[in-house]
Amino acid sequence: MPISLQSTQPAVKLWLRDETKPMEHRACLSPAVCQELIADGFQIKVERSTVRIFNDAEYEAVGCELVPNGSWREAPLDEIIVGLKELPENETSPLPHTHIMFAHCYKGQDGWRNVLSRFSNGNGLLYDLEFLENEQRKRVAAFGFYAGFAGAAVGISAWCHQQNEQGPHPPIGYYPNEDELIAELKAKIQKAGRNPRIMVIGALGRCGSGAIDLALKAGVPTENILKWDINETKRGGPFQEIIDADIFINCIYLTTRIPPFITKEMCDGERNLSVVVDVSCDPNNPFNPIPIYNASTTFDNPLLTLSTANKEKPLHVCAIDHLPSMLPREASERFALDLLPTLKKLSKRHEAGEWVRAEELFHAKVATIEHPDDGN
Ligand SMILES: NC(=O)c1ccc[n+]([C@@H]2O[C@H](COP(=O)([O-])OP(=O)(O)OC[C@H]3O[C@@H](n4cnc5c(N)ncnc54)[C@H](O)[C@@H]3O)[C@@H](O)[C@H]2O)c1
Repeated sequence: MPISLQSTQPAVKLWLRDETKPMEHRACLSPAVCQELIADGFQIKVERSTVRIFNDAEYEAVGCELVPNGSWREAPLDEIIVGLKELPENETSPLPHTHIMFAHCYKGQDGWRNVLSRFSNGNGLLYDLEFLENEQRKRVAAFGFYAGFAGAAVGISAWCHQQNEQGPHPPIGYYPNEDELIAELKAKIQKAGRNPRIMVIGALGRCGSGAIDLALKAGVPTENILKWDINETKRGGPFQEIIDADIFINCIYLTTRIPPFITKEMCDGERNLSVVVDVSCDPNNPFNPIPIYNASTTFDNPLLTLSTANKEKPLHVCAIDHLPSMLPREASERFALDLLPTLKKLSKRHEAGEWVRAEELFHAKVATIEHPDDGN
């Protein structure tokens, strides 16, 4: 009998930690993706959670082992700790494990030095999900689609509220699934008596496609949705087409200074526009192409009311920077599925470009702890 030349790799061990950031119901690994990974030889432990959108039992049913929440700190060092959001800000203890998460510490964010120092002090390693990129240098997984999807939902809800109700729009909660959200929006549009006209800029991107998908699912006819991307804006703004629409949803990825899409003067004049959803949410960026407002909004207070010289039409702006949290189940499922092919390469991560580049970036960022001007 021939002897197999395949080396037997030790199983990759993933440890899904419970999220501690308030209001975070999403998960980096869905039960469906865990099932695929386990079939591929992975061993997965999942911390019990009372906040995660997936029940503990859903993970157990696909073969994950449940462990107490927060117990990753005592996990054996060959466990790779997987999470989504930052670790609690007040912690300073060294981090000896390999972590996969969005650590938000590579761009000089508040507290970046403390976070990176924890890794270097513990001899740990960070694979930051924001910088896990394929050969074309595109992120392997991002939450953009459901950011646009949720942003469009807030926009339509806000517009319907203007037609149907008095007073401020109520706070927004999260939805157990998208069907519930869609049904609610359909009823609101029906009560409003007509479909809104919607303008999406950045329509070809992740957020833009999500915004269009939501609008279509809510029953807005395709001819009511104006879909613009870089080709349509290259002549330079501002654009009359934006104030001709009822709802403007901005989904562009801003990289350079561009002329504004809309100005305060346009808001003062005659317009149909009564809702702006800035999914890109760059209110403090000096290149922000929507210079009509300057503060983010929240799920509790989703809309800013702009004061304009046009007293006939209200103008509300939504600028929530964590929109995917509104649909934690679908957002997590899609993210985890996008991440799956890269996760499968973890057993050979020292040869896989995505992981190699992410590790090199981590070491380069750690080197800037002493010399911040070099990289942050
Ligand atoms: N609010 C939130 O919760 C949230 C969540 C995720 C992402 N975002 C933000 O949304 C933005 C878009 O992210 P994405 O993942 O969809 O990016 P993406 O790269 O997938 O898509 C961006 C699109 O914008 C287009 N674009 C760029 N400049 C343009 C211009 N001047 N005119 C017209 N179109 C232009 C691009 O061609 C592309 O199609 C980013 O700023 C991202 O940080 C926000």
